[in-house]
Amino acid sequence: MSTQKPVRRKTCPQITAMKGGDPIVSLTSYHAHTAQIVDGHADFILVGDSLGMVMHGMETTVGVPIDLMIMHGKAVVRGTQQALIVVDMPFGTYEESPEVAFRNAARILKETGCGAVKLEGGARMADTIRFLVQRGIPVMAHIGLTPQSSHVMGGFKTQGREEESWAEHEADARAVTDAGAFAIVLEGMVEPLAAKITKQIEIPTIGIGASADCDGQILVLEDMLGLSPRAPKFVKVYGDLGAQIEASVKAYADEVRARQFPGEAQVYR
Ligand code: KIV
Repeated sequence: MSTQKPVRRKTCPQITAMKGGDPIVSLTSYHAHTAQIVDGHADFILVGDSLGMVMHGMETTVGVPIDLMIMHGKAVVRGTQQALIVVDMPFGTYEESPEVAFRNAARILKETGCGAVKLEGGARMADTIRFLVQRGIPVMAHIGLTPQSSHVMGGFKTQGREEESWAEHEADARAVTDAGAFAIVLEGMVEPLAAKITKQIEIPTIGIGASADCDGQILVLEDMLGLSPRAPKFVKVYGDLGAQIEASVKAYADEVRARQFPGEAQVYR
């Protein structure tokens, strides 16, 4: 029997049960204190591998190592109590075989304390998703624009612009649903296709640059706070933190140079 005070977080089955009901709210978060703020408002928080680009200045997510995901995952779990925490499996940690995927997913779950992992890919990843779910690892799928495959896709391209390609995306969504994923991210996908997939499958769709008809929405926190130098068209910017930080840093630098800081209130007499 544990002596720890139990933390009652949203569970994967609870997220699945939200299909077709109240919209599911999600944001990314990479550190404890922002996660603590998001926790009061989100159903699940994603520790996305976008942290490689957003926090570590990488060009793509391809170079993100698993240890970095685990470090940030631990911080987000520590900072939260209510939301389900989902951690991305980075490129190269799950594609080779279901067994490799299991070893890495189990490591992420055990070392971070998160409740689920997310991985990119549709039909091609279905066997791996089934293997993980059957062995106790909840999986969120991710189809459409899959940034880890940006080299193959020729960049970050909106998916489904040609109607002939829809069948493949629909088959991807069906395959990961049948394999046991508890929810699925639809990224960078034309809106009628995302709406169609949402109607076709039994698990919730979480849109990012997809459709308002998805069962939920997710954004990268730094993008919606106005902290990212460039944000994609699908981001609505709700804050202006970049400008606020700049103004605060400038005010501090000006005061130090003018010998106004520290002032009377900040020194020990
Ligand atoms: O890594 C990430 O932030 C993501 C979201 C864009 C869904 O996968």
